[in-house]
Amino acid sequence: MMSNHFGPSTDPALFRSVLQSSKRLLALCGAGLSAASGLDTFRGAGGLWKHHSAVALATPQAFERDPGLVWQFYSCRRHKALNVEPNAGHFALAELARRMEGFYCLTQNVDGLHQRANHPASQLKLLHGHLFNIQCFNPSCDYVELNNLEDPFHHSLDSPPSAPATPSPKNTIAARAALINPPTPTIPRESLPHCPQCGIGLLRPGVVWFGEELDQKMLDEVEAWIEQGSIDLMLVIGTTAVVHPAAAYVGRARGKGARIAVINVEGADLGAAGGLGERDFLFEGGAEKILPEILGV
Ligand code: APR
Repeated sequence: MMSNHFGPSTDPALFRSVLQSSKRLLALCGAGLSAASGLDTFRGAGGLWKHHSAVALATPQAFERDPGLVWQFYSCRRHKALNVEPNAGHFALAELARRMEGFYCLTQNVDGLHQRANHPASQLKLLHGHLFNIQCFNPSCDYVELNNLEDPFHHSLDSPPSAPATPSPKNTIAARAALINPPTPTIPRESLPHCPQCGIGLLRPGVVWFGEELDQKMLDEVEAWIEQGSIDLMLVIGTTAVVHPAAAYVGRARGKGARIAVINVEGADLGAAGGLGERDFLFEGGAEKILPEILGV
């Protein structure tokens, strides 16, 4: 493949030579990285859960209004994440991290697939938390439980979220629709898991919801890494790069001299990674296929 004279390069060989001469490499990963493993993205075709927008369920307000509904959404995501495998994209990033000390990976994904691909923990920052951490919704309680893999997490959530539908005797359109997409049961607040520490708050998934702050200690660590020196290259992988502050790291890396390399099935609407120039790269296609190829691992 040849470089486009006016736009970003699409040449894997040129990318590999830039990678080989790079000392400090940053990545920002999003839901598209896990798409080939079978997990839905947030925006676009996969962004609906039982007619609810995945983005609208990821707020403290949604949890206050209907914690049972939000828990069922997360219970379903936990169940799915536990039942899929990391793909070649996760493994390629993990291998690159092992080979290259100066590679620092920021991920918006909460599914645990980077970790299951053995990505070195010191080179991986979970910007939006982790589906399998549990914390208390009471703002004055600091209860946290790490890596709880129970599925379902609590008996109130124990109708298996993606259980096979039982056949219905009535073959009406409505009956068939209900089989494909059964109505979500209402779970009363008092049946949901409560915090063992304060006894007041409901337990909630340890992910960052819209309107919530990212972990300050982690942000400070990321900032310290960025400030250590110039950045040679930044990979923007499977993300719409529209959610801040995560998306702003693309601009931060540019400010530190980085060339940007976008890996996405969509070559348009690149969010904060838009406006790619001649020094940059654009690889259109699945991250699971492109990452092993361009990273050469
Ligand atoms: N390979 C590469 N990219 C892909 C693939 C694939 N196989 N499949 C889909 N994509 C791309 C889509 O084109 C899209 O640009 O992945 C991106 C997914 O975008 P979003 O659904 O917006 O996911 P993300 O950018 O991770 O969302 C950011 O928003 O809802 C919040 O907290 C949530 O962390 C999430 C954040």
